[in-house]
Amino acid sequence: MFLQIHSQLDSSQNFIITGGAGFIGSNLTLALQEKFPDARLIVIDDFRSGDFKNLAGYRGDFVAQNLANLDWRRQFGDQKFDGIFHLASITDTTNHDQFEQVHDNVESFRHILNFARPTKTRIIYASSAATYGPATEASVESNGAAPANVYAFSKVVMDNIARRAAAESSDWIIVGLRYFNVYGPREAHKGMPASMIYHLSRQIKAGQRPRIFKHGEQKRDFVYVKDIVEGSIRGLDARASGIYNLGSGQARSFNDLVGVLNNCLGTNFEPDYIDNPHAHYQNFTEADLSNARSALGYEPRFPLEDGVRDYMQWLYPG
Ligand SMILES: NC(=O)c1ccc[n+]([C@@H]2O[C@H](COP(=O)([O-])OP(=O)(O)OC[C@H]3O[C@@H](n4cnc5c(N)ncnc54)[C@H](O)[C@@H]3O)[C@@H](O)[C@H]2O)c1
Repeated sequence: MFLQIHSQLDSSQNFIITGGAGFIGSNLTLALQEKFPDARLIVIDDFRSGDFKNLAGYRGDFVAQNLANLDWRRQFGDQKFDGIFHLASITDTTNHDQFEQVHDNVESFRHILNFARPTKTRIIYASSAATYGPATEASVESNGAAPANVYAFSKVVMDNIARRAAAESSDWIIVGLRYFNVYGPREAHKGMPASMIYHLSRQIKAGQRPRIFKHGEQKRDFVYVKDIVEGSIRGLDARASGIYNLGSGQARSFNDLVGVLNNCLGTNFEPDYIDNPHAHYQNFTEADLSNARSALGYEPRFPLEDGVRDYMQWLYPG
């Protein structure tokens, strides 16, 4: 149903995807290209963490610019867009340069809001579960922001200015998506900040015991990138502005994850438990999906077992 509605509009669609050379952005760009083959796509990325190799098969345009300084009006004149997917961000949460994180992440977003305001262009942007800080049960969007690092703080500020902009007019739809712990194809370029699923699978493939923090009972809402892409595209149909969680809806432990990986990779490694050096560590993340279900019709399709299996087949074919 959802796909049919949009495919009728294909030829008139113009989308911008920021951060499209990155992990989630490249998966989203390639999915948009497949779902709307006649749409005009423009990726904006400065390659600070992304990689052109993620966009193999991409047929659209690419603007290599730093969004923190980009003059949108000069770049695009009065071209109209049907939607701007804003995923670009510094994504290394261990980058503690407070000026750089807040300046680049927030100012990039402010430029987009300013460009989109006169035409009320729809914006779908990536926020983060990191905005919740420590939690012991499923997070709902109304929970107070408790950023534990400056990356999360920059996302909180983005949510704040998005809410204020959306309040200017009910015709201007701004959808914030709080992604939980995303894993899947095209994340290797991230290096250390790539998902634990990627890193643990590499350790297992190298014949090593997977290294996790003592004693593996910390839980995460691990969500497959295909669900995140689907949920993000559903932002095109949202009838009102809002900020929504996108996750799997299920917190799973690292011990569970090692079991799932062993299963998929045909191995039987015991975890190698190591000390946790992080003072501020999220011991529990889980998305409450009630609002994403009702406002976006979002329904994750990949429980951990299925997502990891699909991913491992992509990562280690044959
Ligand atoms: N991966 C996750 O688990 C996760 C969880 C929560 C939120 N997010 C959010 O999702 C979005 C995508 O993350 P990702 O995991 O794909 O990370 P990524 O690092 O692979 O992608 C980010 C992309 O943005 C680009 N970029 C960064 N700053 C830029 C700037 N100023 N100008 C132009 N390009 C810039 C990078 O080069 C990169 O290609 C980010 O906004 C991130 O904060 C991701």
